[in-house]
Amino acid sequence: MSDEPTALSMAKMQREVGVAEFFARNRHLLGFDNKRKALMTTIKEAVDNSLDACEEAGILPEISVEVVDMQNDRFRVIIEDNGPGIVKKQIPRIFASLLYGSKFHKLSQSRGQQGIGISASLLYGQMTTGRPAKITSRIGKGHDAHYYELKIDTKKNRPDILKEDVVEWNKEHGTRIEIDLEGSYQQGGQSIDYYLKQTAIVNPHVTIIYTNPKAEQIIFPRATEEKPKPVKEIKPHPYGVELGMLQDLLKFSESRTLQSFLMSEFSRVGGGTAKQICENASLLPNTKPKQISRDMAESLMDGIKKTKIIMPPTDCISPIGAELLEKGLRKEINAEFYTTVTRTPSVYRGNPFLIEAGIAYGGEQRADQSIRLLRFANRVPLLYQQGACSVTKSIIQTQWRSYGLNQSQGALPIGPCTLVIHIASVWVPFTSESKEAIAHYPEIIKDIKLALQECGRKLGSYVSKKKRVGFELEKRSFIEKYIPHVSEALKELLELKDKDEEKIKELLEVILEKQRGKLDSMEFDKTKNVDFDEDFANIGKDAKEPNDASEEQPSENKENNDHKTTEENKDDKKKDNQVKLK
Ligand SMILES: Nc1ncnc2c1ncn2[C@@H]1O[C@H](COP(=O)(O)OP(=O)(O)OP(=O)(O)O)[C@@H](O)[C@H]1O
Ligand SMILES: [Mg+2]
Repeated sequence: MSDEPTALSMAKMQREVGVAEFFARNRHLLGFDNKRKALMTTIKEAVDNSLDACEEAGILPEISVEVVDMQNDRFRVIIEDNGPGIVKKQIPRIFASLLYGSKFHKLSQSRGQQGIGISASLLYGQMTTGRPAKITSRIGKGHDAHYYELKIDTKKNRPDILKEDVVEWNKEHGTRIEIDLEGSYQQGGQSIDYYLKQTAIVNPHVTIIYTNPKAEQIIFPRATEEKPKPVKEIKPHPYGVELGMLQDLLKFSESRTLQSFLMSEFSRVGGGTAKQICENASLLPNTKPKQISRDMAESLMDGIKKTKIIMPPTDCISPIGAELLEKGLRKEINAEFYTTVTRTPSVYRGNPFLIEAGIAYGGEQRADQSIRLLRFANRVPLLYQQGACSVTKSIIQTQWRSYGLNQSQGALPIGPCTLVIHIASVWVPFTSESKEAIAHYPEIIKDIKLALQECGRKLGSYVSKKKRVGFELEKRSFIEKYIPHVSEALKELLELKDKDEEKIKELLEVILEKQRGKLDSMEFDKTKNVDFDEDFANIGKDAKEPNDASEEQPSENKENNDHKTTEENKDDKKKDNQVKLK
């Protein structure tokens, strides 16, 4: 045995781990833990980016999604948008280095936030097929369309440019991504079809042209020309700011006084509030931020807590809206009762967020199983890790029995019911990089519960009214049964004619209704919901869920958009376009 201390031999092995190397090995953290999910995640990352980019540029999005079966579990995914495009210099870094993006450093509501999504898809594609991704992007008329073939240098997390060119492209502006990857295509609740349908529902301003691996085309045309309300970028709210973050902000601030620091670094802090915070913190408003010690920063934290500061502004959040949420539920589910709510914004750790909830009850839904749950975050459907999500926890902790549903302790309620929850926030706290479940912040759970209770109370009164009406109708039917016998007996006793017997019958029916009041049946009428679209509701539904423990039974849902399904082969025009690009 050598006399060399072990620490020395260990030191030889110790070196930095590259971020791309790390994620190549831990691809499950990014949503690439099985072939089916990998295909779905790739499309989701690209579509989310296209929607974000169009929204930021004020463009009505038109996105084409094409999945080509290359056999042997290989697929080619082609996503093309009409967004603002990407400047030439940025293309390689955006697509071929992890943790590079425009959304991480700003607090504003968007689908992406980490700067990892699309490069992770490229990484997965190159790991499983060895092929580079092909990117084309153009930023406008009079600008060239740039074409790149890219791989990620996993050791350095840098782009490896295999080909770079200027190409002909008949699109004025936009981005086209082509990635080959190992995948598996299946229908069902966690399928691409299902994800695109849900996306179309909560983004009624988008047109999606989807060609599936069977070369069938499904078009989700936009249902409105109205774009979502543009969201504003905000500063963090002082409530919830942590000491370390406050110290960093103080260290790098360019403000000359504590008062102006508070006003410029935080939202909802004007001159008066800033002075009040300083007073409550026993600090002078004209103290230089850089001179604030750790202890002084601690007092500042106390000062913030003691000061009454108004809630964050609502213009940084763009909810779906209660009306649209209900329309979505009506389109997807033929139920008998609908209710939706959009709450006012709240704050967790200084970040504003807003909860929306909806319920579709009864009708064609099964009564003997757990309710169906639809989760959305910043208008993106969440299809995985339902069990780990704070939405599920909030539902489980709500007392559904008082709202007319069965529920065992620690479980989702049982009944003919679909619940939808949307969280909109300037920063959605996901439990992992794959953005599938929302973290268990008490403030978020509390707000989801309040939204559920609001909907639950309305559901409860509907369910109990239905019960009351049911009992009453039953009682009436007993009484009604005797009317012919009473009429017949009276006819015999009073020796009346047949026509009098009929009259007595009618009179007794009138008396019954007069005595017990008029009653409309609350039985489910299949034809009442004119928004219901059966073909649309069936998209992504018609296959058995896989028996994969990592993929829980999700949900389906909601709203909007006409669509047409054709069995036609791929669009010829698009093919021409692809040929030109190659
Ligand atoms: N289709 C697109 N059009 C215009 N810009 C895009 C497009 N796709 C990506 N981008 C830009 O590239 C950046 C990186 O995208 P990426 O998906 O890797 O991260 P992100 O969207 O910022 O966050 P997340 O990891 O949560 O998805 C984006 O922030 C955006 O600036
Ligand atoms: Mg993204």
